[in-house]
Amino acid sequence: MNSFELNKIAGAVLGGALAVVAINEIANIAVSPTMPETPSYVIDTGAAEAPAGGAAEEKDAGPSLAVLMAAADPAEGEKIFKKCAACHTVEEGGANKIGPNLYKVLGNNKGAHADFSYSSALVEMGGTWGYEELNAFLTKPKDYIKGTKMSFAGLKKDGDRADLIAYLRTLGSSDIPLPTE
Ligand code: HEC
Repeated sequence: MNSFELNKIAGAVLGGALAVVAINEIANIAVSPTMPETPSYVIDTGAAEAPAGGAAEEKDAGPSLAVLMAAADPAEGEKIFKKCAACHTVEEGGANKIGPNLYKVLGNNKGAHADFSYSSALVEMGGTWGYEELNAFLTKPKDYIKGTKMSFAGLKKDGDRADLIAYLRTLGSSDIPLPTE
């Protein structure tokens, strides 16, 4: 065996070792062992809608809830409710699912369903679900009620929340007067 052949063998061995290292690296990247940010069983969390920049957008207060509600469209709200329907029913006497039934929720007490096991955070907050409260909760549930079990990122758009609240109002709460300035 001359030195040229030895070099070839050494080269082949080295190349092989490098290939193994590379494959290992690629496998590590492909099968990332890091935990997902949200648990995989959560249904539509609306996470894609979470604001990227956050603060800057939140500073702009936009139109008041009275103005938004006056322009709100319950039919649009019914469409948006598809995001909620995985966890909530809305018909009168409807079953509690992952979340409680939402018939007549507007104007009702927080945590009103005796047969639903609410988080203590929600129960302790108390009060009623008026327009302001629903609007704040649906913007970012975990900000409004720290410790809520509702795994939903929130609805970023003012108009979407107003439409949704207008839809909830049609479900047994149409006697609740619309908010005024
Ligand atoms: C992943 C499941 C899930 C989704 C999606 C979800 N919710 Fe909930 N929701 C819950 C749970 C669980 C609770 C109980 C929260 C607690 O006890 O802290 C809750 C509570 C509520 C309450 C309070 C009810 C009461 O009786 O006090 C309202 C109002 C509500 N959700 C509205 C909505 C709306 C509107 C949407 C859609 C934009 C939505 N939720 C999406 C699970 C969900």
